[in-house]
Amino acid sequence: MADRTIGVGIVGTGRISDLHAMEYLQNSGARIVALCDRNGDRARQKALQWGIPDVAVTDDPSQILANPAVDLVEILVPHDLHLEIALDAAAAEKAVSLQKPICVSLEEADRLVEAVRDAERPFKLFENFLFFPPVLKAAQLIKEGAIGEPLSIRIKSNPGTSQTAWEIPIDAETWRQSGTRSGGGPLVFDDGHHKFALAWRFMGDPQEVHAFIGNTDRGDGLFFDAQSIVSFRFPGNRIGNLEVVYSPELEIQTRHYAQDDRVEITGTRGVIWINCGHGRLADAMPLAVHSEGRTTKFPDVETGWEQSFILSTRHFIDVVRNGGKPVLTADEGRRILRFALAAERSAAENRTIRLAPR
Ligand SMILES: NC(=O)c1ccc[n+]([C@@H]2O[C@H](COP(=O)([O-])OP(=O)(O)OC[C@H]3O[C@@H](n4cnc5c(N)ncnc54)[C@H](O)[C@@H]3O)[C@@H](O)[C@H]2O)c1
Repeated sequence: MADRTIGVGIVGTGRISDLHAMEYLQNSGARIVALCDRNGDRARQKALQWGIPDVAVTDDPSQILANPAVDLVEILVPHDLHLEIALDAAAAEKAVSLQKPICVSLEEADRLVEAVRDAERPFKLFENFLFFPPVLKAAQLIKEGAIGEPLSIRIKSNPGTSQTAWEIPIDAETWRQSGTRSGGGPLVFDDGHHKFALAWRFMGDPQEVHAFIGNTDRGDGLFFDAQSIVSFRFPGNRIGNLEVVYSPELEIQTRHYAQDDRVEITGTRGVIWINCGHGRLADAMPLAVHSEGRTTKFPDVETGWEQSFILSTRHFIDVVRNGGKPVLTADEGRRILRFALAAERSAAENRTIRLAPR
């Protein structure tokens, strides 16, 4: 397939699809050939907005799967639909890119892991944070030994308010309020996936998880699962946590979600800080490392959050055309789901959850 342009069909043209379309629209190795949304008007509007007015549009995912021009299916729908559409896409022998989380339960994830294990075409669990340029650079520095062995990861998610954020359709908010549709809360389970992916990337699988998960009325009929804290213990006397704090009057500069993310990784001989996820606070340095008694700053690392989508998509186009291992695999997506489900269970049962080694 290396010598031909792959045809892409997108199922679900809601809020996040704009950032998925970016690389497909500019990469000569891929071309969007079909769009699907239950809300057909929304898909037609995206076709115009993205400058591809002649693309095939449907409200039925099975038509995307039956379309021979579609090589790769990008699945961007509410979480309770992930399993069914991904199974059907794999059965139709399409390459599959499925947005996080892989599914809403480990039982569902097991079915998908099994279904794609021997599939001819690649399956990618789409997790953009691992492609955020400051995260990529931090991973490279840690691999080169900049902070020694990582001992701890501390992650802060700090949603607030923003006059510059993009608009979020109300239906994108409402399905996230339902545990059945989403699998868990909007901050700890849904957005938490990105943070658990970072914890997994730098620390591996946890052996113990403990969580306090709060509930805050936003005052607009919607609830946030904050203030919350999730603690992890990793094998080898290593630890980590995710702290989620909703500051309703904290004004945040962003072009996307009204949220700031901050990460600190402490190693045996250094510390690394990763800033500037969706938002901008305090002109924070995107990346800084303290090692050998001095601090090195990396002001020039690209911080546009859309870059994480562009690079993640570019990676998968390359895998589909030329082969290689997708980041993430289905099994890796299942590992990250385990973090989130353990956190939800710990909070519900008010106890530490022990996870078997994998
Ligand atoms: N990586 C990230 O940072 C990030 C950010 C936001 C969302 N996401 C993920 O992207 C996915 C979509 O989220 P969103 O915010 O765009 O949600 P959204 O609600 O804005 O979009 C979902 C779209 O799916 C459509 N849809 C629902 N059922 C359908 C069906 N049966 N067939 C076809 N279309 C259907 C809806 O009409 C809607 O347009 C979720 O998995 C979410 O977790 C990831």
